[in-house]
Order: sequence, then C-alpha cells, then structure tokens
Amino acid sequence: MCLWRRRKLRCFLFLLIASILSLIFQIWLIHNNAQFQGGSSFQGMMSKWLNTGNKDAQENLKLFMKHASQANLPLFLMDPSVLEAVRNVSRGSVDERRAPHHCRYLCSSQGVITLGLLGDSDVKLKPDLLQSLHDDGFQYVITEGHDPRLASVASMAAGKVPHHMLFRRHSFLIHIVVLYERPGKFLWHAAVEAEKTQKWMSLVENRELQFGEYEGAYDKMEIIPTKLDGVKLNIPKIPSAFLQQIPHARFLECNYGQARKFHTAYGSDQTAEGVEFVGKAKSLLSQGRAVLDRIGVRFWMSSGTCLGWFRQCGIIPHSKDVDFGIWIKDYKDTLIPAFQAAGLSLKHRFGKVEDSFELSFQSGDVKLDIFFFYEEDDIMWNGGTQARTGKKFKYIFPRFTLCWTEFLDMKVRVPCETLAYVQANYGANWYEPVKQWDWKNSPPNVQPNGQWPEEKWSEVIQLFDVR
Ligand SMILES: *[C@@H]1O[C@H](CO)[C@@H](O)[C@H](O)[C@H]1NC(C)=O
Repeated sequence: MCLWRRRKLRCFLFLLIASILSLIFQIWLIHNNAQFQGGSSFQGMMSKWLNTGNKDAQENLKLFMKHASQANLPLFLMDPSVLEAVRNVSRGSVDERRAPHHCRYLCSSQGVITLGLLGDSDVKLKPDLLQSLHDDGFQYVITEGHDPRLASVASMAAGKVPHHMLFRRHSFLIHIVVLYERPGKFLWHAAVEAEKTQKWMSLVENRELQFGEYEGAYDKMEIIPTKLDGVKLNIPKIPSAFLQQIPHARFLECNYGQARKFHTAYGSDQTAEGVEFVGKAKSLLSQGRAVLDRIGVRFWMSSGTCLGWFRQCGIIPHSKDVDFGIWIKDYKDTLIPAFQAAGLSLKHRFGKVEDSFELSFQSGDVKLDIFFFYEEDDIMWNGGTQARTGKKFKYIFPRFTLCWTEFLDMKVRVPCETLAYVQANYGANWYEPVKQWDWKNSPPNVQPNGQWPEEKWSEVIQLFDVR
C-alpha cells in the first residue's frame, strides 16, 4: 500500500491511526464481553489471560483465612463452583484444561468466593479483626437484620444480627453468608437487601453472587477441615449433599404480623376440641413428613394446611384433616407400604397414577389426605372423585414452585407463590374463617371432569374399613 514514495508519510500516519483504532476496538470488545458474562472487571479479564487471576483467589483467601482463623470464626466453604471442583476431584473426573495443577479448586471461582459462617454463637465480628483486615487492604460491608431464632415470638425489629458480609481486596470478593440454626433444626440465611446499601452495590460491582437473592434453608451438615490449593479451610463433609440443595433452597418466612392481625380480628379457638385437634394434626404432619423423607419423596402443605400456615401461621383448629401435595412424577410404589409400616392405615384410594390419583390415610380420628399434582401447559391440577357417583373433578392452580418454610418447628415445603395458590383454592375471601366447606362445590378452582366408567369403579374407587 505504501509503495509510493511521495505519500510515504501520509501512508504511515494512515496505518498508525488504523492500528490504534483497531486496538481500541479490541479493548472495547473484551471489556464488553467481560461485562456481558457478569464476570470480572477488565483487569480481571486481562489477569485471567496472563494467568494471574488464579493467584488472586489463592492469595486473598489465604490472607483472609489467616485473620479469620486467629479470631476462631466458624467459617466453611460453601462456594458452589469450588465445591463442585472438590466433588469432581473426589470422583476422579477433572477437566485439566479448566483446573491447572497448582490451582485445582479455587480457580473455579470467578472472582468471588462464598463462605458460610455458623451463627450459633455471637458472630459479631470484633472491631480489632475488622481493623486488621482493613489494614491488609480489605474493604468490607456487613448487613444486619432480624434474629431468625426469634421470628415467631418477638417483633422482627428486636435484636439485630449480622446477615451477610462482603470483603473485597483489589478486585477479589469474599462473600460470607451467616447461617443460623433455627428451632426446626435446619440452617437459615437471610436475603441480601442490597438496594438498601450503596456500599454493598459498589463492592459487588457487576458480579453475580450465588446466595442472597432469596432467604435459604439447608440441612445441618458435618463440616471437616481440609486444605485446598494450599489454603486451610473447612468444607461440608459431603459436598454433593450440600450442592444438591442449592437450587431448591429458597425459604419463605411465615407472615407473623399477618397472623397476629388474624388472631386479633377473629380470636383463636381455645376450645378443648380445637386444641386437641391442633396437637393431633401437628403430630400427623410430623409423622407424614418422616415417612416421606425416609423414602425420598417431596411434599408440600396443601389446601387447608397451607391456608392455616399462610393466614395464621398455625393449624386451623376446626379443620378435620392434614393435606399434603405431591408431584405425581415423584410417586413411588413404596409410598403406601411406607405409610402402613408407620402405623397409618389406608382409608381410600381414588383414581389411578395416570389420572386423578388421591390417597387418604387415617391416624386415630385424624385423616391425612395426599393430593397428587399433574402438570399441564401453564397449569397444575389435582383430581377429585365422588365415591357415590364416580364423578370426577379437577382442581386447577396456576403453575407454582416450592419453597421451604418453618411451621410448628418443622422444615416443610409450601408453594412459593402462596397467595395465588390459596386464592385459586379459596377465592378472594380466603382471609375469613369459613366453617362450612364442600370440596365438590366451594373451591373456585373446581371443574367437573366427567365420570369414571362403571366397570372401572372397583379399580378407581377403593374405600377401606380402617376401624
Ligand atoms: C465438574 O464436572 C461436571 C461434569 O463432569 C462439569 O460440567 C463441571 O464443569 C465440573 N466443575 C468444575 C468446577 O470442575
């Protein structure tokens, strides 16, 4: 291009400008790409290329752990990608390209490492610990909130405790999730109310945190000491058991304020009958939960049991039974025998696994109804059968997902979209106590669904004498 002598200078300038523009364009591309991945900053991206990003995680975590272990903080690693790497290595399936020898575990993190802090003792970090971390270049922010161990008794404002902590050194982040053991014997963490703290936002920048979008609930676990890439850390003894829970860990707190209002408006049933039923229902709920846990079948509180939780954080004293929902895809042949072995007798069995399946067990004078739910396009439904006529019914719900909650000191599931679920079932007036309820006519979401042919009745309508 620059063959003509006379234009040599102009040509040289042209090439110079062109290459500068191309360089700027490349930098812009890399920068945007890094942001697009929700990943690290531009420096982070460059340092990964130069293979120094690896050292970041090791160095900063090591430094942080040095301070933390001097202060005896009960920390453990709860980072999903690092624990996944630990699990992969223990299974012997390692991607050598992704995991270079010197940084087999910690380099799986993308500029953020998540640690859990067991908050059973007083976890307020001592000022001198914070000071020495600060002196070593850590910026930090700590969010506080209600004490979950007092959620149902005291006002939420009483007794603030730490919920989340963020420590940042250079562009590396350590996110500490404080986990509290609750009366239901499980670990709970708060959601991050990030919009409340400017400082939180500025430390996180555009990185994605793995925990804190919602409150979470986890089984208690055994923690063991180990060393990962030269950093001494505690990890869950069985990483896969913890990892499995992460996608389904969202927790919903019962609305205790609303429950108090309900009881103020309508009183609480303190008749001997009511109190007796509540006690029996609680033990049946706990029994049913133990059976289903044993055979590994998920369930959630449905119908009246769900309404009781949602509206008054308790069992509705004038209800007559306990109601569970189970996905039909989770059904196992071992379910009925497992309940029978636990001393519950099968009272009725309606429908079949392919259509409108429903079971009912009897324990003393309280009934446990299990409704099986089917998924269809944008709805979920369970079936009903009228024993006398063979008529079929369909109860329709908008799609829902499952959340954990704490109910009567137990960790149990409810639909996360609880209001929509309860409204589908009980209508807009779900808040008002109703004593007369007819399952064939009262629910606003019930639809007639034909009739079982008479020759099928012996199969789809089975009533058992349990006395
Ligand atoms: C662990 O292994 C799975 C499947 O073998 C793979 O998809 C995943 O990326 C690995 N994770 C890490 C952090 O090495």
